[in-house]
Amino acid sequence: MDLSEKSIEVARQRAAVFGLEDRIQFRAGNAEKLSSFVPVEPYDLIYSFGVIHHTPHPDAVLAQLKQYAKPGTTIKIMVYHRRSYKVAWIFLTEGRGQFWKLREIVARNAEAQTGCPIAYTYTRREGRELLERHGFKVTSVAVDHIFPYRIPDYVQYRYVREPYFAWMPQPLFRALERRFGWHLCLTATAK
Ligand SMILES: C[S@@+](CC[C@H](N)C(=O)[O-])C[C@H]1O[C@@H](n2cnc3c(N)ncnc32)[C@H](O)[C@@H]1O
Repeated sequence: MDLSEKSIEVARQRAAVFGLEDRIQFRAGNAEKLSSFVPVEPYDLIYSFGVIHHTPHPDAVLAQLKQYAKPGTTIKIMVYHRRSYKVAWIFLTEGRGQFWKLREIVARNAEAQTGCPIAYTYTRREGRELLERHGFKVTSVAVDHIFPYRIPDYVQYRYVREPYFAWMPQPLFRALERRFGWHLCLTATAK
């Protein structure tokens, strides 16, 4: 599910590429009101990638998701990581020293196009607490993903690394991703 009809359409096309379209139900709507358009029933796995940090009230989404969990349900979410290369980069390139505006500046520059209205970021502890206060038991917290490519090439489907990443040994790049990546990936089980 996704708030945007356009995103749902893209997901539908992607599913069709893999021949899975008829095995997936797609729903457009607000995750903060999930139960108003997705029937409440227990799921084995609840998965959300890169969505919960974009909604004004992430806790409202978690409260909704909890309704779809039974004891043992696995929940996997990805939210943006505060202590990341990306936040540091945004602040250095766009921040002009305005610490007090950091949240707004990060949101505006969080995506490929500027102007994203909301993009919260979380420390590992805050991510864990987001799940724990809704009765989930966190089993794994992992950080990953630094985008290494030059955007002008990437949008033309060419994967050319930024010079400072092109010369970096792959093991060092991976270590950097696992420490300062943009994706905070949390896994938990419902109690
Ligand atoms: C960074 S994209 C991630 C999209 C997709 N999950 C993926 O992995 O490619 C963020 C998505 O969150 C959606 N979104 C933001 N707020 C939402 C909400 N309250 N309910 C549902 N979707 C929301 C946006 O429409 C957008 O498609």
